[in-house]
Amino acid sequence: MISKEIIEEIKARADILDVVSDYVNLKKAGSNFRGFSPFNNEKTPSFFVVPSKGFFKDFSSGKAGDSISFLMEMEGMSYMEAIRQLGQKYGITIEEEEPTEEELLAKNERDSLYIVMKFAAQWYQDHLWKQEEGQAIGLTYFHERGFSDETIRAFDLGYSPDLWDGLIQEAKAKSYNVELLEKAGLVVRKDEAKVYDRFRGRVMFPIHSLTGRVIAFGARMLSKPSAPGFDQPKYINSPETDIYHKSHVLYGIYQAKQAIRQEDNAFLVEGYTDVISMYQAGIQNVVASSGTSLTHEQIKLISRYTKNITVLFDGDAAGIKASVRGIDMILEGGLNVKAVVLPEGEDPDSYARKLGGTAFTKYVKEHQQDFIRFKIALFQGEAQQDPIKKAGIIRDIVTSISKIPDPIQRQVYLKESGDLLNMDESILLTELNKIHLQQHRSAQKKTAFEETYAAEEEEEVFSEYEPAEEPSKGKIYYREKEITRLLLLYGQLEVEENFKVFHYIFKELEDLTIQTDIYQQIHQLYRQKSEAGQAVTEATLAEAGIPEITQEVIDLVVEHYVLSDNWELKYNIYVPRETSILHQVIERSILELKFAYLEKLIQENRQKLLEAADTESQMKVLEAHHVLKNSQMEIARYLGIVVS
Ligand code: UTP
Ligand code: MN
Repeated sequence: MISKEIIEEIKARADILDVVSDYVNLKKAGSNFRGFSPFNNEKTPSFFVVPSKGFFKDFSSGKAGDSISFLMEMEGMSYMEAIRQLGQKYGITIEEEEPTEEELLAKNERDSLYIVMKFAAQWYQDHLWKQEEGQAIGLTYFHERGFSDETIRAFDLGYSPDLWDGLIQEAKAKSYNVELLEKAGLVVRKDEAKVYDRFRGRVMFPIHSLTGRVIAFGARMLSKPSAPGFDQPKYINSPETDIYHKSHVLYGIYQAKQAIRQEDNAFLVEGYTDVISMYQAGIQNVVASSGTSLTHEQIKLISRYTKNITVLFDGDAAGIKASVRGIDMILEGGLNVKAVVLPEGEDPDSYARKLGGTAFTKYVKEHQQDFIRFKIALFQGEAQQDPIKKAGIIRDIVTSISKIPDPIQRQVYLKESGDLLNMDESILLTELNKIHLQQHRSAQKKTAFEETYAAEEEEEVFSEYEPAEEPSKGKIYYREKEITRLLLLYGQLEVEENFKVFHYIFKELEDLTIQTDIYQQIHQLYRQKSEAGQAVTEATLAEAGIPEITQEVIDLVVEHYVLSDNWELKYNIYVPRETSILHQVIERSILELKFAYLEKLIQENRQKLLEAADTESQMKVLEAHHVLKNSQMEIARYLGIVVS
């Protein structure tokens, strides 16, 4: 618990230029600073810092934020970790507030788990490097697998001696209590009186958290034949504990995160040894799901560092078919996915060792496929001639496409599938719509209200492929975005005494409801803060600590500072300052927004006309139509638009 005052002090002291400069080489550009994006590989610098606002904006990845969010992105830190790091940088002593007893207990318990895991990891490493058994069995095994000492150290690999209570004895000598070992999953309790080491006579693969703390172990048996009638599993893994949630963790993420960001790509493999061999071959942007099927949390974890995942499949078809589900999950997470199938009999571990990094990378470049080509190839031969199987593939591919959140991308892939399958796109589209409808239906309940609502949604699904003017987001969205941008940039300017631009905007929008959730929220927050007497700025809104709002606010305003500055500097183009014609700009923007609302109302009203049962209700609808249409015409005249 850090007190609010200290957090405020740290935020006030943290200088964005100073913080970013630790990572990025910045050059002055007008009143701002510019450099190469630390999040992407790029040829022209598109990363900006706006010191006057305390913000950065990276045009290559779209990321934007203040010094805290910069650190969170760069280091994969949590908010609190970033605050602590800044506190250290600026020599601000962080006096942790007295936590409640419960917090203290929970924190103490987790802390002690980290400590005991660290102790165990160290003990396993000591055995690997310094004890005879470990050297003879463990170290030899790793060396035979081709792991260098440097690699073994980079992953903190170890060896657990073949004893029932080796770790227990050592822990006792160091006064760790056995219950703690049990909570950490390091020992197994047989009954009241009897506990023994969980990991015995195995090579140890510690699993690290994002920040490099050991949170679990995977322990591999050695390739000696096991005693008859005694079938041991290849790996024994730590159970779930208070610090280890398997579905949230990726093996290798700590060692890979920096490289993933630099390469803007993550390789996804299955096993510990795959990660390690690729890392040793110089391909460091690699993580493993560790034998289990991929989870949403794991995908989210990767997406903090990149939006591109390349899945590596062993060269046997059975294994591939079992794990393609992961591809759909990646698509669902809004990430781009590529697939690479390795030659028969090879896995990433064996193949990286065989080829070395350069040739491996070349193989990947030459064999990577998007998921559509990958799926088609997977069923190739099987299906070419068989129409029923072909229908199966189509369904399979379209199901994958239906998971993609971005409608534009869906269309691109639909087109590609049509080309590749030599099929009319409209057939695929029909298939896609069917899937969407099924999803909607199964998600729906049956109240009358919801039924009408569902009908509207179905409509939307069917109209998806119409090449609308702005296919991803509607006019209303863009108009609302624009008026919000103006509100943020100029809200505090005075129109006349005691009447500011924001008063004007709110007055004009008084009877209307902002439709887009995030803009609705920003307007509401702006209103609340102004009513509380604050002069609202970007910073005031960011202070609310709602990440979506902060991101959107920064996105809206920073572009303005960076771009206008840059244009003038680079192209000698004088950007007419909005401020000089502010009144017109705002007035126009409000009218355009109202125009868009009216358009929507008119459309809705048309729909009612189709549904009207009798003449009387038809007349009512028509009347409403005229009223709406007249208002729209009036606005159109102002704006100089012709309406039909
Ligand atoms: P693999 O059998 O491919 O293991 O399982 P590997 O790591 O490549 O090991 P080598 O190359 O045979 O030495 C892939 C992953 O599945 C999990 C482990 O995380 C392993 O890395 N696994 C496998 C288990 O958890 N338990 C098992 O018994 C087997
Ligand atoms: Mn393997």
